[in-house]
Amino acid sequence: MSCPPKSDDLVFFVNGRKVIERNADPEVTLLNFLRKNLRLTGTKYACGRGGCGACTVMVSKHDPVSAKIRHFSITACLVPICSLYGAAVTTVEGIGSINTRLHPVQERIARSHGTQCGFCTPGMVMSMYTLLRNHLQPSEEQLMEALGGNLCRCTGYRPILASGRTFCVESTDCQKKRTGKCCLDLGGNDSSSLSRESDICTDLFVEEEFQPLDPTQELIFPPELLRMAKNPEKQTLTFHGERVTWISPGTLKDLLELKAKHPEAPLILGNTSLGPAMKSQGRVHPILLSPARISELSMVFKTSDGLTIGAGCSLAQVKDILAEQVSELPEEKTQTYRALLKHLKSLAGQQIRNMASLGGHVISRHCYSDLNPILVVGNATLNVISEEGTRQIPLNDHFLAGLASADLKPEEILESVYIPHSQKWEFVSAFRQAQCQQNALADVSAGMRVILEEATDTIKELSLSYGGVGESTIGAHKSCQQLIGRPWNEPMLEEACRLLLEEVSLPGWAPGGRVEFKRTLVVSFFFKFYLEVLQELKKLDSHHYPEISDRFLSALEDFPVTGPRGVQRYQSVDSHQSLQDPVGRPIMHLSGLKHATGEAIFCDDIPMVDRELFMVLVTSTKAHAKIISIDLSEALELPGVVDVITAEDIPGTNGAEDDKLLAVDEVLCVGQIICAVVAETDVQAKRAIEKIKITYKDLEPIIFTINDAIKHNSFLCPEKKLEQGNIEEAFEKVDQIVEEVHVGGQEHFYMETQRVIVIPKAEDKELDIYVSTQDPAHVQKTVSSTLNIPINRITCHVKRVGGGFGGKVGRPAVFGAIAAVGAIKTGRPIRLVLDREDDMLITGGRHPLFGKYKVGFMNNGRIKALDIECFINGGCTLDDSEQVTEFLILKLENAYKIRNLRFRGRACMTNLPSNTAFRGFGFPQGTLITESCITAVAAKCGLLPEEIREKNMYKTIDKTIYKQAFSPETLIRCWNECLDKSSFHSRRIQVEEFNKKNYWKKKGIAIIPMKFSVGFAATSYHQAAALVHIYTDGSVLVTHGGNELGQGIHTKMLQVASRELKLPMSYMHICETSTATVPNTIATAASIGSDVNGKAVQNACQILLKRLEPIIKKNPGGTWEDWIEAAFEQRISLSATGYFRGYKADMDWEKGEGDPFPYYVYGAACSEVEIDCLTGAHKKIRTDIIMDACCSLNPAIDIGQVEGSFIQGMGLYTTEELKYSPEGVLYSRGPDEYKIPTITDVPEEFNGLGESGMFLGSSVFFAITDAVAAACKERDIVEDFIVKSPATPEQVRMACADRFTEMIPRDDPQTFKPWSIPIA
Ligand SMILES: Cc1cc2nc3c(=O)[nH]c(=O)nc-3n(C[C@H](O)[C@H](O)[C@H](O)COP(=O)(O)OP(=O)(O)OC[C@H]3O[C@@H](n4cnc5c(N)ncnc54)[C@H](O)[C@@H]3O)c2cc1C
Ligand code: FES
Ligand code: FES
Repeated sequence: MSCPPKSDDLVFFVNGRKVIERNADPEVTLLNFLRKNLRLTGTKYACGRGGCGACTVMVSKHDPVSAKIRHFSITACLVPICSLYGAAVTTVEGIGSINTRLHPVQERIARSHGTQCGFCTPGMVMSMYTLLRNHLQPSEEQLMEALGGNLCRCTGYRPILASGRTFCVESTDCQKKRTGKCCLDLGGNDSSSLSRESDICTDLFVEEEFQPLDPTQELIFPPELLRMAKNPEKQTLTFHGERVTWISPGTLKDLLELKAKHPEAPLILGNTSLGPAMKSQGRVHPILLSPARISELSMVFKTSDGLTIGAGCSLAQVKDILAEQVSELPEEKTQTYRALLKHLKSLAGQQIRNMASLGGHVISRHCYSDLNPILVVGNATLNVISEEGTRQIPLNDHFLAGLASADLKPEEILESVYIPHSQKWEFVSAFRQAQCQQNALADVSAGMRVILEEATDTIKELSLSYGGVGESTIGAHKSCQQLIGRPWNEPMLEEACRLLLEEVSLPGWAPGGRVEFKRTLVVSFFFKFYLEVLQELKKLDSHHYPEISDRFLSALEDFPVTGPRGVQRYQSVDSHQSLQDPVGRPIMHLSGLKHATGEAIFCDDIPMVDRELFMVLVTSTKAHAKIISIDLSEALELPGVVDVITAEDIPGTNGAEDDKLLAVDEVLCVGQIICAVVAETDVQAKRAIEKIKITYKDLEPIIFTINDAIKHNSFLCPEKKLEQGNIEEAFEKVDQIVEEVHVGGQEHFYMETQRVIVIPKAEDKELDIYVSTQDPAHVQKTVSSTLNIPINRITCHVKRVGGGFGGKVGRPAVFGAIAAVGAIKTGRPIRLVLDREDDMLITGGRHPLFGKYKVGFMNNGRIKALDIECFINGGCTLDDSEQVTEFLILKLENAYKIRNLRFRGRACMTNLPSNTAFRGFGFPQGTLITESCITAVAAKCGLLPEEIREKNMYKTIDKTIYKQAFSPETLIRCWNECLDKSSFHSRRIQVEEFNKKNYWKKKGIAIIPMKFSVGFAATSYHQAAALVHIYTDGSVLVTHGGNELGQGIHTKMLQVASRELKLPMSYMHICETSTATVPNTIATAASIGSDVNGKAVQNACQILLKRLEPIIKKNPGGTWEDWIEAAFEQRISLSATGYFRGYKADMDWEKGEGDPFPYYVYGAACSEVEIDCLTGAHKKIRTDIIMDACCSLNPAIDIGQVEGSFIQGMGLYTTEELKYSPEGVLYSRGPDEYKIPTITDVPEEFNGLGESGMFLGSSVFFAITDAVAAACKERDIVEDFIVKSPATPEQVRMACADRFTEMIPRDDPQTFKPWSIPIA
């Protein structure tokens, strides 16, 4: 066997310590290296594609051009370690620790309640930390920019931003400061003296207690690296991996020589394009050339006619360079630079902009590129270089289409990009529209430029270039040519739109879908450009050019990115409450500081166990097929592969008959698990799954949509029905509307994907399972039946879960059971960590819904009868679909008393992955029908929706449709308070005024009430237990049946224990949730976890205190430690089990009656938005939420839950869109295709008072529909518009029909196969 060639040493620093990697593998990312080699697990994996920011770390490098150290944030999942030669990496562990010294960023994010599950927190911390390394007192804009690439699924971002603001130039997050009255001025600075207006508090933390930022404490750039940078190694560095060799030359000459020798080898810079492509296409480049050390590629030259930027400059650097030019040069010269700057602000997140290079961006030629269309119209030129010399090629659409005649030769590289100055009478603009404002690829982007004949409005030159409407960036040359010589006026606009739609044509089946929307954007953008140029002309010569009507000017303004503001109010504790009693106080999350330092251990952070193996799942690529054969031979021969687990290996039961753990004979959806590869490493296991050959025979029918399921009578369970009054009779006497509502599904997108570690023990078939789950008892039971061993041999441990939202109730049992089979078969521990793509593909999510309603009402808006029939898409197995249908039906009436009602619901069986539990459990989808119905009645009666809501709301003590009695008093109070606090009525008038004055922008406002039932509809599901031990040193160990998902349950449980034992929380600890300590637990779900477990903890503590009472009485002056010592001496048990039998809850579906819910929580939310009728974009202006949390155990945690679920709900109703191919393949499998809200999506003003508010996110949806209705009214659009959620820019734009939507060609759906299909 030949010896592998010797690699150079890879030298870099991590957290101030030198790393010398002698066998650096170019395929290893920094993330893997940190987590596996260095055991620095604070940096998290959540997507692996640069799209979520969970893996953010700071890199510091010496910049040879500026001779300064550059600190920048990056996403470690995309950074090959080989690119780090000479760099210093700082991870979350490197800046502070709870054992040594916390960094102020870490301290503040935790104390500001900016962590819930804590999985995103290290990434947030590092983005903020890097910002502070560069700007000691950043502006708020810089803060928003720094956090734009970091996703959080729990908090709703507001508290994270609040912590960051404390570092900003003008920190205003001490909420009182804004009113001029700081809490400190009022005296006191501890949480017990939080400022008080009667019994209402507004402060959740005390800024003045934070330690100051001291830059002298930061790690310095390692002197050794500085020496290396100053005397750079000119020689070529080479790192040989198993499959890939990385070559990093020291000079341009060497690079060009290498490129000539390896013309096929790509240059690797940011790896933000190559990396994801290699991963998704499984492509391997045997040689990678890294030009990172070539300073010629980072040069910037300013000349009198333009700017030349080195291809190696990062997009962040390009942004700074352009900003500098804009500040130095007259406006007329910087038109192209301004347009580029506009897009550079929203292109990806900060980390990607720091990594991605200009050269990489241009050469990648992505069809969605934001910059290429502008560079094309700006006449940019590419300076290319090879051993043969240099030459220029124009950056035009021939180059971008990859035409050989216009392209680089294989041996050439891009050295720099030249961007000329613009001139007087030249106008350049840029446009883009994406699913959300920041960190989202554009559906359509455009660059537009016109040169007018001097001092006229005659077109001399016109260039229009579009991204997103073809395979590459497209230029509209023919249209532009034909418009030359035309005056810049309305007839030209009309003609231009006609020509553009002809030239920039997009077939109905075009990849990416949204075809009609994209066509509309092509012309809408041109219209915006038309107005912009007119306005500029007007500025140049106000007499000569026509005035743009004020009403139309709004078309020109883009929505600014602003950080949310707001006040969070909550009920303060009674003034007589003992200071030591923590109940009702805004106590920081118990793990908050550990989240922030990366020391909180999640499942995959557990160190590798001896002889551990890695498991990867193999899933079906067919939606409904017979498995003809499975050939494992090639996979089994690969190095490192130990085994492949199939259904035949299961010793016990293989799931349920109709819901198998591993498929046997037949598959029912794409993504169904067929088998699992077990290998020594994850890389080996992932390579092996590619080699498994499965042959299928398609089966009929294949059903994806609810419509098809109804046609095929394909249902998972019988219809659920509730009825009251006489619906048919009532309909005879009233006006009626019949409508349809479609609500899309939702991906949980917990930041921590599904993961489990199964460790088989040598004795008695025992297994230890570490799993990220909301229901360890279910995992335990499923593993037991799968392995056919008693439950008592299996112990499940849950330390913490990185977000669940319902997605980790049922599914973890499947992964746990398959991994357990692997562990038993191989006799070795198994680790299973799902990739984001697999997690999204396999696990299902919220059920999409299709509903039909018929509502009968009087002219005054009184609703007399309501008949709702709804269908949910359950996917291929039952899972929780029957319960979701029941909950949906039970909750449909929301806050309204309607005498004659009929609610029917069915769960459709389709060939899609099974949908499952999700926060709200059907309520958010179903109630959207009810509220849409209210909106429709309002429109028909010519009344406002809030009037109809108020008129039909429950007013007095009453019974629900299922005859459960309740009092709506709190509901009405929440509603009135929300109206009042939001100044609803006066703002409604202002909205109307705004709408009269603006044609292209419309505002909308909506207020939505909520009656939300808590708990499960079964008594046995409300029982809970706890186990409390007091040790002889007085410390207390609390264990209970709830799991820490980020909702702060452990914090709350210690607050309860502290109150009951009258002992500070510092004496107490919760280690984990374990089936060995508290058995037979119920899932932590249905908003009842803290309630029932709290009662169990209370019970255990009361038992203990009762036992201690005689001792305390005897020695009242003694200390806790004295009493515990005495109790031990007197043989009093210091351990107690607490139990809560649960609330009674039942439902008789035969009779349609019952008391299914222990209680209700009430709330209301008001939201105001502004929409751009030309692009469909929207801006959330303000949201006020009022929630009745009864007596909150911890207002900071509860406010966090309200805000977080509100933002999650807002995502459901506005941006989160799952896309399926006509073959049932889920396209949206990562943060780039599936858009959860980012920090820039939070309402500009976000006020909260008082629990759970997922459905309240619909207030944003209804505010958007309110704005759309205003646009439609003005445009005399009479057709009723079908309610479709989410209200994406596409939905909004197409609903605001106008001359542009009328112009676009429409396709006959029968004539082509669409790219994606709607499944709701
Ligand atoms: C999460 C995420 C979000 C994104 N969002 C956006 C967005 O909103 N808008 C947008 O427009 N783009 C977006 N992008 C794409 C991003 O702009 C490009 O991936 C990036 O600019 C590529 O630069 P790079 O340095 O990483 O290229 P690399 O991946 O390193 O290289 C890409 C290609 O360029 C070639 N190459 C690089 N430099 C040279 C050179 N000097 N000479 C010859 N060939 C060269 C390489 O051979 C390779 O084929 C996003 C990417 C990610 C990962
Ligand atoms: S894990 Fe790296 S960005 Fe998501
Ligand atoms: S706290 Fe941000 S993802 Fe959970």
